[in-house]
Amino acid sequence: MSDDLIKKKYNKKIKLLNNYNKKYYDQNISEVSDTIYDNLKREIINLEKKYNFLKSLNSPQVNVGYKPSKNFKKIAHRAPMLSLANAFNEDDLINFEKKIINFLNKKKDYQIEYSAEPKIDGISASLIYKNGKFITGLSRGDGKEGEDITENLKTIKDIPPSILNKNFPQEIDIRGEVFIKNSDFKKLTNKFANPRNAASGSLRQKDSKETKKIPLNFIAYTFGHERGLKIETQNEFLEKLEMWGFKTNPFNKTIKGIKNLIKNYNDIEKKRDELDFDIDGIVYKINNFGLQKRLGNIANAPRWAIAHKFSANSSISKIKKIEIQIGRTGALTPVAKIKPVNIGGVVVSNATLHNEDEINRKDIRIGDTVLIERAGDVIPHVISVDLNLRDKNSKKFIFPKNCPSCGSKTVKDFNLTTKKEDSVRRCSRDGYECEKMAIEKIKHFVSKEALNIEGFGKKIVEKFWDLKLIRLPQDIFKLDFNKIENLEGWGQLSVANLKYSIELRKNISFEKFIFALGIRHIGLENAKLLSKNLKSLKNFLSLSNKNNLYELLNIDGIGETQINSIKNFFLSKTNLKVLRDLEKVLKVNDAKIQKVDGKLNNKTFMLTGKLEGMSRAEAKSLIEENSGSIVSNVSKKLDYLITGDKPTKRKVDSAKEMNVQILTQSEWLKMLNKTT
Ligand code: IVH
Repeated sequence: MSDDLIKKKYNKKIKLLNNYNKKYYDQNISEVSDTIYDNLKREIINLEKKYNFLKSLNSPQVNVGYKPSKNFKKIAHRAPMLSLANAFNEDDLINFEKKIINFLNKKKDYQIEYSAEPKIDGISASLIYKNGKFITGLSRGDGKEGEDITENLKTIKDIPPSILNKNFPQEIDIRGEVFIKNSDFKKLTNKFANPRNAASGSLRQKDSKETKKIPLNFIAYTFGHERGLKIETQNEFLEKLEMWGFKTNPFNKTIKGIKNLIKNYNDIEKKRDELDFDIDGIVYKINNFGLQKRLGNIANAPRWAIAHKFSANSSISKIKKIEIQIGRTGALTPVAKIKPVNIGGVVVSNATLHNEDEINRKDIRIGDTVLIERAGDVIPHVISVDLNLRDKNSKKFIFPKNCPSCGSKTVKDFNLTTKKEDSVRRCSRDGYECEKMAIEKIKHFVSKEALNIEGFGKKIVEKFWDLKLIRLPQDIFKLDFNKIENLEGWGQLSVANLKYSIELRKNISFEKFIFALGIRHIGLENAKLLSKNLKSLKNFLSLSNKNNLYELLNIDGIGETQINSIKNFFLSKTNLKVLRDLEKVLKVNDAKIQKVDGKLNNKTFMLTGKLEGMSRAEAKSLIEENSGSIVSNVSKKLDYLITGDKPTKRKVDSAKEMNVQILTQSEWLKMLNKTT
């Protein structure tokens, strides 16, 4: 057969496969049986293997199939859909309130009013209303972009298609939770494990007639973008929601003081079993919108709200043995292997012992009877030891002084912030030289928040390591796929999928790249800061020159600890090799230039002295919201020094010396058209 003829035959098969995919993923129609479909895929892959001139973007080796989410159009949220920070106990709440009071610079005894709302465990949705009409409904998606699930949402009777009420805003995104009642869930004889999955499954049906078959409910609790909403508190908003015809949670309350929050929490937790919907905690929101606005957000959660989660559960068990795990930064973490116990519906057989100090403080020993707690998503841990049940012959647990993986000596660092020795003991070897550390570093590299190579899970990293297929991150890009295809549990399709996921992630943002390197003290937030300030991989690589390293001190949030860690990172020959090799295979995209329309655009500020009616944190976020930036020392790069009460004389003097403009608080606020 001539090459041309082969190409023709191949293209015909690709076209056919494409048609089947489209029908299946867009219209929920299977044109052929699974066997015929799989055969066609296999034929295409075989042809590609035999004739390497055959290539198509629609090849099953490249395109793993339409993702189900392609059923729905993606639409950007007009205001992002945020998530919530969690609190598990009274201390967390006290801390939350303290931070808020500091941020707002209020007196310690200031009474904050909260809207306390039971947190329904369902699926959040955002409903766009224009001139009283429900126009578009979106799922949360990644918080920035959601899926257009309008038709499915229209089948929910709690969602009013139009609202006639005079004071309904011209434009508003009403947000709330879609859920299924427990009593309705029981009536469903289908495959869903719990009501939440049933609601999610129903909402994501391709055919809204299918959605209609599963009775869904909607409870409204917040809003996104709005035009013409004239109210000042959450509490008023919840009342308005009812007037407009939405359902709200009947257990919502307005409460002052942590003690009263706890009382309400206990009351509702007691009622939990009687409710016809699942709740997993209580959401507390600062009631006043003015204060909410001042508090703003950190990363993707508001500073003015928190979710107080239920189910801090505990059980008694016995420690069978204590294992030492080694993390990617070399930390030795002791883990208790316990007799499996059921804690709040989950079987627990491991509990973290945190570190050497914790074992010593609680004198935890092998054979001990212990109280284990599992709260929320936190790893189960030992609360206390029952000394009455301790065996007479039990011996104190001796923490290893050498790394159990590579045998090197272990060290405890001196913490620059606390001025104390760390409680964590670490392997002193260079990252990739210690086997366990190297494996953990590679797991981190491929993980969701780093390169996000789909299908490259922890187990696969371990397996590929054992088979000597990988030793360093760059090895991922030169895997021997023929060898992998012949491994047990692998086949053509799974190899094709893996190849595709790896290929996809060769194009990566600068911040993810920095994070993926797994430099100690450089987590997601610091990686973001570095990316924003350094802009390109080239500038990052120039940090191997120590003179450039100290420039980083100008980045607010990056301190000596981080700089020392980056310095150590560049001292390792292996790290330099990793960087060199990765630079060759990856396309690391420069940081996107931030929107440049703020009033303080391109200006740098420094604060000294106490501000009136505002904390430093608030001043900082006000500057950043308006595209300005904060620096931490006076230099030629500083544009303005803002002086509050009792400014540091040294700072004012050196600002004068360098001709830096000095502003009072009110002069600065004037720049923002604000007054104190
Ligand atoms: S407010 C602005 N209020 O909790 C903060 N969320 O972890 C976020 N949720 O995605 C929304 N009940 O699905 C808010 N009364 C309530 C809520 C609530 C449940 C869910 C929602 C959100 C998640 C945040």
